[in-house]
Amino acid sequence: MYGYFTQVLEERREHPQNDLVSALLAAEVDGQRLTNVELLGFCGLLLVAGNETTTNLLGNMILCFDENPGVVERLRKNRDLVPGAIEETLRYYSPVKAMPRVAKNETMIGDQRIEPGQVIVAWIGSANRDEAEFPDADRFNIEREPNRHIAFGHGIHFCLGAPLARLEAKVALNAMLDRLPGDWQLADMPLEMVKSFVVFGAKKLPMTWGM
Ligand code: HEM
Repeated sequence: MYGYFTQVLEERREHPQNDLVSALLAAEVDGQRLTNVELLGFCGLLLVAGNETTTNLLGNMILCFDENPGVVERLRKNRDLVPGAIEETLRYYSPVKAMPRVAKNETMIGDQRIEPGQVIVAWIGSANRDEAEFPDADRFNIEREPNRHIAFGHGIHFCLGAPLARLEAKVALNAMLDRLPGDWQLADMPLEMVKSFVVFGAKKLPMTWGM
């Protein structure tokens, strides 16, 4: 991936175009340009962060619908429910389930002391099932209101691509509702989940429809 982006960066340095890589090459903060390592890091992050996550959101929607018969029919009849179904999937089966952090300062979380420099794992998937925030948290409810999940993170690193991910999911789900009639059924086989500490989703979801 870095080999590929090294080439793209060289090409755009020579021949800038109207695209993100050229904009990054030209960007200046306080008179300073991004270094090559920073440029490669950003391109790599954007590719992974923008691809794996949305892919798994789409798969996780199918998983949620499979576990909750009747939802697809309700969505077909009332497309206004589509955004709520996407938000509830983000909460219920969060595509990014955990993020590591290094504490800068001594911090108390409940009665737990976190020392400066200590690595912690913020379990997004768990926070999104917190009964204190979400009544009946283990129930998939596409009309949940409010739905203040943190599937896109929180604070200064809040997901750059959240509006794009929501749009992609809306386009994909509406297209599936238009084109795949009848019941959607997952093949009767054990699910193999993505082997990742960060990402939650199934490797494959063979499905049939029109039954
Ligand atoms: C369902 C889809 C997505 C989910 C669940 C998701 C989730 C997240 C989460 C939890 C974070 C916070 C990371 C942290 O706090 O350390 C994040 C950051 C980020 N996301 Fe997404 N993301 C999604 C889609 C996308 C897309 C489509 C893009 C770009 C095209 C993208 C680009 C980024 C970038 C660049 C960051 C880093 C932001 C920063 O550090 O300031 N994400 N995402």
